[in-house]
Amino acid sequence: MKKQAIGVFDSGLGGLTILSALRRQLPHEDLIYFGDTANVPYGSKSKETVTRFSLDIARFLEKQGVKLIVVACNTASALALAQLRKVCKVPVMGVIEPGAAKAAKVSKTGKIAVLGTEATVRSKAYVKALLKKRPTANIIQQPCPLFVPLVEENWTRTRAAREIAASYLKPVLKAKADTVILGCTHYPVLKPVLSKIAGPRVQLVDSADTVAQAVSAFLQQHKQQETTGKGTLTVYASDDPHRFKRLAACLLSDPIGKVHLKNLTK
Ligand code: DGL
Repeated sequence: MKKQAIGVFDSGLGGLTILSALRRQLPHEDLIYFGDTANVPYGSKSKETVTRFSLDIARFLEKQGVKLIVVACNTASALALAQLRKVCKVPVMGVIEPGAAKAAKVSKTGKIAVLGTEATVRSKAYVKALLKKRPTANIIQQPCPLFVPLVEENWTRTRAAREIAASYLKPVLKAKADTVILGCTHYPVLKPVLSKIAGPRVQLVDSADTVAQAVSAFLQQHKQQETTGKGTLTVYASDDPHRFKRLAACLLSDPIGKVHLKNLTK
């Protein structure tokens, strides 16, 4: 039987944090990544628009013959997952449930903060997922709209990044949250800055490893896991693939190879 890839997508570079975990945990799987750089950011857009972008990407990935789609974007998971699951022929996994489950488990005090895009915060997807796992949780949400451009511009090690992060974390620290969910796949890139400001008593939770574990468990359960051979990676960006490749190299330790241009509106 022909090897089928796992499709992974995000509005841009952020989903590469999930892709890295998938490559580490599932080294035999072929992966196809789509970064929707023509439409980034998703976080300030409406549910209808994000759903339309997500469906276009899912259709493209299905045409590539993927066996599973991982929505490596919290905003698309929050706004479009139900519609994607309705329309797609292959299973679709999001990033919110695994991240919420992990935070609900590791928080000692139950005071949990969610950092996310405006759209993710507005959707309350994390609040619902957290309360399902831990009904007594005390949750605060903080939209962080400037984080995605900082990552997409490779500005994460600047003074501006530190100042913006300190300002976003202020209400979170004031509320004495012991666990902070990085509820956008771009935010783990800012982890060094965030953990310095938050200090050692605050746990930062991102969903990369838990998502990769959930994907692995799903494939095993459905007897679809590849156990031999080195997995391949194919990367598409919907705009400026050279810029995508250059910035990806600054963010990731593992190389991503050639980035193909794929304009889905043509
Ligand atoms: N990385 C995405 C997320 O996890 C989207 C960020 C954006 O495009 O605004 O929410």
